[in-house]
Amino acid sequence: MPAKTVTSISADLQRRFAEAQSVVVLTGAGVSAESGVPTFRGGGGAAVWKGMPFDVISSAGMLARDLPSVWEWFDYRRELLKDLSPNPAHLALARWQNFFRDFLLVTQNIDGLHQAAGSRDVVELHGNIWRARCVTCGAHEELRYSRGVETRERACEVCGDALRPDVVLFGELIPLAPFERAVVKAGECELCFVVGTSAVVYPAAALPEVARSAGAYVVEINPERTPLSDFCDEVIEGRAGKVLPLFEAL
Ligand code: APR
Repeated sequence: MPAKTVTSISADLQRRFAEAQSVVVLTGAGVSAESGVPTFRGGGGAAVWKGMPFDVISSAGMLARDLPSVWEWFDYRRELLKDLSPNPAHLALARWQNFFRDFLLVTQNIDGLHQAAGSRDVVELHGNIWRARCVTCGAHEELRYSRGVETRERACEVCGDALRPDVVLFGELIPLAPFERAVVKAGECELCFVVGTSAVVYPAAALPEVARSAGAYVVEINPERTPLSDFCDEVIEGRAGKVLPLFEAL
């Protein structure tokens, strides 16, 4: 049966939220949209940078061919992010960590805004834009205060080889340990929220499926329908920054 699409929180969901012991939330780019972070998809279009679709410039193939261009794209994105702050959606989810016996926040976002909002335990499936990683020895470096040109020219302090952004690119595998942790929690939770993701990038998009197959009630929060919408128990059509804080008023 297709999911109910509503613009407010149903009485059934209110009760489930009040009684749940174990909750998993999967977020995507839409949760940061109200902070001013552009999404990749949605609104009928997809991001393009210097004439290249984002999934070409953000790809393992491009990394192998042209590391400086990959750096340039991520430097550009860090520049966009550096003055942005968490929005009411991030802040609401940071409060949720105190509401449930078991709560896991899983994000596809690399912007670090959940942590900036105060979320202590965030499973980052796609890495973090504020970190670099050595292509050879895997050592990490913080990038918070680096400017674009510096990052492109810097070498690994441990082995001297090239640094790359510590993010998962198209064509690369996501780190196994965080994903496994998310799968286990998704399989155990009673309530699973899917917030601000187009739900087309796997394996992240499989988490709500794992949760639902294990009996969880799955709720999507998004102003647009996604390939996941029909599969959810409830779809709340709206912006994350407006909808998420409403749960606390229940
Ligand atoms: N509140 C909630 N959802 C929103 C909002 C908002 N204010 N604004 C936009 N959205 C929704 C859009 O309708 C869309 O469904 O957020 C979704 C954003 O989708 P994508 O841009 O595809 O982002 P995401 O699903 O996180 O992408 C997955 O793809 O490019 C890769 O690695 C990148 O992690 C990313 C992955």
